[in-house]
Amino acid sequence: MTETTMSVTEIESNRETLEQKRAEACLGGGEARVERQHAKGKQTARERIEALLDPDTFSEVGMFVTHRATGFRMEEAHPAGDGVVTGTGRIDGRPVCVFAQDFTVLGGSVGEAHGQKIAKIMELAIRTGVPLVGINDSGGARIQEGVDALAAYGEIFYQNVQASGVVPQISIILGPCAGGAVYSPAITDFVVMVEKTAHMFITGPQVIRAVTHEVVDFESLGGAGVHAELSGVAHFVAKDEDDALAQVRWLLSYLPQNNLDPPPHQQAQDDPGRSTPELVELIPTDPQHPYDVRDVIAAVVDGGGGGGAADFLEVQAGYAQNVVIGLARMDGYPVGIVANQPAVLAGVIDIDAADKAARFIRFCDAFHVPLVTLVDTPGFLPGVDQEHGGVIRHGAKLLFAYAEATVPKVSLVLRKAYGGAYIVMSSKHLRGDLNLAWPDAEIAVMGPEGAVDIIFRRELFEAEDSDARRAELTRDYRSQLANPFVAAARGYIDDVILPSESRARILEALAVLRDKRAATPKRKHGNIPL
Ligand code: HXC
Repeated sequence: MTETTMSVTEIESNRETLEQKRAEACLGGGEARVERQHAKGKQTARERIEALLDPDTFSEVGMFVTHRATGFRMEEAHPAGDGVVTGTGRIDGRPVCVFAQDFTVLGGSVGEAHGQKIAKIMELAIRTGVPLVGINDSGGARIQEGVDALAAYGEIFYQNVQASGVVPQISIILGPCAGGAVYSPAITDFVVMVEKTAHMFITGPQVIRAVTHEVVDFESLGGAGVHAELSGVAHFVAKDEDDALAQVRWLLSYLPQNNLDPPPHQQAQDDPGRSTPELVELIPTDPQHPYDVRDVIAAVVDGGGGGGAADFLEVQAGYAQNVVIGLARMDGYPVGIVANQPAVLAGVIDIDAADKAARFIRFCDAFHVPLVTLVDTPGFLPGVDQEHGGVIRHGAKLLFAYAEATVPKVSLVLRKAYGGAYIVMSSKHLRGDLNLAWPDAEIAVMGPEGAVDIIFRRELFEAEDSDARRAELTRDYRSQLANPFVAAARGYIDDVILPSESRARILEALAVLRDKRAATPKRKHGNIPL
């Protein structure tokens, strides 16, 4: 043994010191606070990470980081890790970067060191091209650290923006997420909120009471239900923490690691050429009658035929339900589905639906997820509220998103495609790659009844039997204009297909388009009307 070699005792002592330090760090805010966390139905940061990742794959980074703040009794508390656990791990064998705020340490509040840890793991995610999953449970900016806490948030937000469109970013909200802190999840691609314990808001009940005299509680202000149904901030709601973590694992199965990788392919169990005869009966013969477009989605995506579970993950299912968006697999390849929903508001496009679909389209485009659009809409929602709310600006986002998207774009007009909505919904004019329609599709400036009332107003006024004349003119209009063959004759619709051919034709188009190349003009970025 040379003098520079460690003795067995020294090695053993190092091991003991390290184990002790690790054990201390893992204590978080101490047993009492961990108990309080559990009593609220919440897990600790480390328990959550364990539940999220594949077993034994977590490599922690920054376990021994502590804050360097002084004053307000901060000298007394130097918890290792500074209230956030960060590191890398695997989900279904694929690497991810992860952080989980530890509410048992200073309420998971964000100070300088805490923020630097999060920003560092985000930078690593960007540099290595792996998705970032953030678990939020925090009282917000650490009050004792003043402007350093705000600076830390600024660093996090900056990294969120750098990561946007480079790696998928997913936020899981499992506790409070208050004040400006909400802007980090808001920038990310998907937000999952757990029922009851997750709350997101810019200004809390106390501030609201002071300023507006309104009395409101956390749940009705910013609970999961509010953000999933009213604000559109949350994409998924989970019944408990394990459900939230499981949903994220499932969501990641559709997503590529980064903007340079293709989305992951899974061996499909479903016949790509499977006929979809069930769709023949699905659409009511009366064009005014609703149906649930999710039944069409279920029929065309993998697994849906023969009563199996369709491979479809609906996104923002509770928000702006007049449009349905979600991730699905077709022949094992992930696709993004955008579909008007005739069962809600007849499938009109309004402000919220336009925003919802536009953001999803941009996500899919950023990450090479082909778009499949199912069209059945009478158009944009008329009304003073919509006009004053800026439906012009919001509807333009949807148009912009489709036009700028260069991923494969396949569309199928199921029934109505009227007016501006026809153009907006992935039309040929916005460079749809393959535009299909069913034989009963109505593609026109407006519906037959409205059109006849406008162009034949005088004639109807003068007619002896105006109802009979209106019915006759409506029939004429429908046969001459409101069908897919006029558009098909111009080449705006590439083919008219039978409902039973839907899955096979969409799949074939996607297969042909898989290596699509599209050039766009060189520019810094477009100026989407936000
Ligand atoms: C420091 C904090 C903290 C904070 C909570 N704690 N929030 N410490 N800075 N922001 C500490 C508490 O002192 C307590 O410490 C522990 O965390 C748990 O807090 P409790 O209040 O006991 O928990 P609970 O009853 O569950 O209430 C949670 C809460 C409440 C709703 C989050 O703590 C709260 O309202 N906190 C303040 C929220 C806030 O206003 N934050 C600033 C927002 S502005 P002990 O030692 O007792 O365990 C903001 C700006 C960001 O964040 C700007 C970014 C641009």
